Amino acid sequence: MGKLDGRVALVTGGQRGLGAAIVRELAAEGAISVVNYPWPLEAEAAEGLVRELKAAGREAVAMQADVTKTDEVAALVAGIRDRFGRLDILVNNAGLNPLKTWEELDRETWDATISVNLTGVFNCCKAALDVMTAQNKGNIINIASVAAFIGRGNADYIASKAALLGLTRSLARQYGKYGIRSNAISPGFHNTEMTQRARQTSAETADEFIKMVPLGFLAEADSIGKAALFLASDDSFYITGHNLVVDGGLTLR
Ligand SMILES: NC(=O)c1ccc[n+]([C@@H]2O[C@H](COP(=O)([O-])OP(=O)(O)OC[C@H]3O[C@@H](n4cnc5c(N)ncnc54)[C@H](O)[C@@H]3O)[C@@H](O)[C@H]2O)c1
Repeated sequence: MGKLDGRVALVTGGQRGLGAAIVRELAAEGAISVVNYPWPLEAEAAEGLVRELKAAGREAVAMQADVTKTDEVAALVAGIRDRFGRLDILVNNAGLNPLKTWEELDRETWDATISVNLTGVFNCCKAALDVMTAQNKGNIINIASVAAFIGRGNADYIASKAALLGLTRSLARQYGKYGIRSNAISPGFHNTEMTQRARQTSAETADEFIKMVPLGFLAEADSIGKAALFLASDDSFYITGHNLVVDGGLTLR
């Protein structure tokens, strides 16, 4: 018996990085995985993950949708409802971090970041909540960032992630009565493409990143997968509106 047997889980941007780790952890506990990816270039990564899960005896499907496009998100969730009849878990993982300083930040970049990290989450929650309220059950997990409260990084990214924490709490208050929980996870530094790019642009080495972390290492993506599994499962049945910081102690500094 898995902790998520038969539950349908949509992970946005689930084909790589932290998203793929979340998909793997939920699937290992029996979730039926919908691996969302944004555009055709990412299709092979999504299909590869689906093949891996199916080879392990899991049910999984890859579905394309750009979370910034209301119509594509509506079609994605309608497709899930038609195919599986329900949607139990939504993990809003898709994110963009253009790594611009305040001086470099222009309106176009600002809009692009807010559009994926915040409006994209709004789009997905809007569509998913229609299904979840009808079920009287659901679980939303928003992947924020420690950047939201340590102010380290770029203003567009920080602002989008800080706002995401507010959105998480707002949903928790309003949808608890439907048996729907809403929580956030704030990762610290993890070893993914996003942080590899950050290290390249900021000239900080992996060693310098590690020195900032009391536990003394950069975690791999599975630490976020395991945190998401906890919040997605009934082990966290009385937790809503929470922000689970997974950062090796980084924010204790
Ligand atoms: N890696 C870290 O250390 C770290 C730290 C804090 C927060 N995060 C957050 O974790 C999440 C995953 O990041 P990651 O590190 O795996 O980086 P990543 O760049 O590998 O993953 C981002 C994912 O979002 C998807 N995506 C981007 N735009 C999209 C769109 N319009 N529609 C659908 N999907 C889209 C990408 O295809 C990719 O799958 C992000 O929200 C990020 O902000 C990461």
